[in-house]
Amino acid sequence: MINCEKVKFKDYTDQYGSLVPIEGETDTGFPIRRIYYIFGVERGIRRGYHSHRDLHQILLCVSGSVTIQVRTNNDSEDIVLDNPSEGLYIGPMIWREMYDFSADAVLLVLASEHYDESDYIRDFSAYKKEASSYFEEK
Ligand code: TYD
Repeated sequence: MINCEKVKFKDYTDQYGSLVPIEGETDTGFPIRRIYYIFGVERGIRRGYHSHRDLHQILLCVSGSVTIQVRTNNDSEDIVLDNPSEGLYIGPMIWREMYDFSADAVLLVLASEHYDESDYIRDFSAYKKEASSYFEEK
């Protein structure tokens, strides 16, 4: 899907366990200005329900599993994250919802900018309008 793809990071695994390094810009394609993580999400909860206008993010499920639904006006995909060395890049103007968090899920997000509420589109019909002009111009 446009502005959205799985990314695999190298893991260093030996008999002592696994380590996954992620460097801003070289590995992410954008500078990391913020991280946040979501955990303790109860069964049946669905969250997200927004798009960003300019933000670049990589979502990593570093423990457990979660499903991310990504949508544009033309596409919809449900992507399972259950591997700590595999992330989901989500760029501008992608609607996302997160659901099916396992009890032990920790969803770590690397973001290109500090928190900015004005970058959010939280209304789906407003998203559809903005997305149609954004993707037409691209
Ligand atoms: P929210 O965007 O509603 O989470 P989700 O999209 O996963 O459902 O964020 C929950 C709260 O956290 C909201 O009050 C805003 C705050 N918040 C920050 O202060 N900084 C951040 O970087 C993020 C992502 C959220």
